[in-house]
Amino acid sequence: AERSFDAYRLPEEHEAIREAVREVCVAKVAPHAAEADETGEFPKASYDALRAADFHAPHIPEEYGGAGADALATAIVIEEVARACASSSLIPAVNKLGTMPLLLAGSEELKRRYLPPVASGEAMFSYCLSEPEAGSDAASMTTRAVRDGDHWVLNGVKRWITNAGVSEFYTVFAVTDPAARSRGISAFVVEKSDPGVSFGAPEKKLGIKGSPTREVYLDNVRIPADRMIGAEGTGFATAMQTLDHTRVTIAAQAVGIAQGALDYAKGYVAERKQFGKAVAEFQGVQFMLADMGMKLEAARQLTYAAAGRSERGDADLTYFGAAAKCFASDAAMEITTDAVQLLGGYGYTRDYPVERMMRDAKITQIYEGTNQVQRIVMARQLLKD
Ligand code: CAA
Repeated sequence: AERSFDAYRLPEEHEAIREAVREVCVAKVAPHAAEADETGEFPKASYDALRAADFHAPHIPEEYGGAGADALATAIVIEEVARACASSSLIPAVNKLGTMPLLLAGSEELKRRYLPPVASGEAMFSYCLSEPEAGSDAASMTTRAVRDGDHWVLNGVKRWITNAGVSEFYTVFAVTDPAARSRGISAFVVEKSDPGVSFGAPEKKLGIKGSPTREVYLDNVRIPADRMIGAEGTGFATAMQTLDHTRVTIAAQAVGIAQGALDYAKGYVAERKQFGKAVAEFQGVQFMLADMGMKLEAARQLTYAAAGRSERGDADLTYFGAAAKCFASDAAMEITTDAVQLLGGYGYTRDYPVERMMRDAKITQIYEGTNQVQRIVMARQLLKD
């Protein structure tokens, strides 16, 4: 019988998507990456370029006006954007993070109302789980939602909210039954224009400076009851299921950042001459490059394996999402640090892009759950049965 090894080769359609994103990113995203990092401003030109090519929120299903990209295609889009500009890659990544609770658990009504504007690029969607005192221990959140007739009234502070202020819509997790701990958390759609919503000053960060991170304040925000996503008390499970899927996108982001750094370092060592020859001719440099390429490819394969599980909704996605995110982000940190090393003193300056990539890589080990949390998640899955 004919045997198929397709699992170990990307479908042609996905290779075509990679080519298309790469073309847009080389021409219209990469040129703004250093400036976004330097000024700390949201790269509107990159957003417009991604939007024009339908790469700003590719995962939105066609029935809601989206491009209908599967999880692997979405990961490839994020990877390629991150290769050019990590800050810009948070546009498709956080649009997926913000809308995933709706896609997983939202009513048809809510999906019809909130997904089309994201698909068209009129609006972005952020995800509000963390709080000043509730980071890794997400279930210890204190933001409260209290029922008042056919409304809910929300009060609290959300922290580390990616694209806050730029996004029009927010998935907010809040406590509806304090006695029930994680089973007493519910999810809601909050709009930037809802009275009582405001934002903190942009955080001064090490990297991903072109992607605003701000606190979101909810001060007696009164929203209609139909803005609840899924049933009351299911918000924490929805938050965790969302992260199972989107940790794959952070893995893809890490792979893209690392690829960008390896590409640059390869070009540099071929040109740079010391001791009368290109530094690429020294075995010490070659061994570094080989390790960088090897780790990168291992990270990419694990990321794509996790993306397949995300698309199919496999039971082992929790494990694979955590493993891919953890492995790829650790690899990206090593690879970008080595890229700086290969450029020597030049690598340490802002005249070259690799120090930015190293700073951008760092966050992938922290957000959507620190890599210590990923190891907890993996170990719990391994020990489960
Ligand atoms: N899928 C479905 N349900 C899940 C789940 C999953 N993957 N993980 C947990 N649950 C359910 C459990 O089954 C349990 O339900 P029951 O009570 O009904 O049995 C409930 O959730 C509680 O689970 P745990 O007891 O395992 O919860 P815990 O309090 O021990 O926390 C944790 C587990 C893994 C540490 C979790 O808190 C966690 O992931 N922390 C990290 C949070 C995080 O990733 N934050 C990132 C925020 S997003 C971001 O970074 C911002 C950005 O903008 C980029």
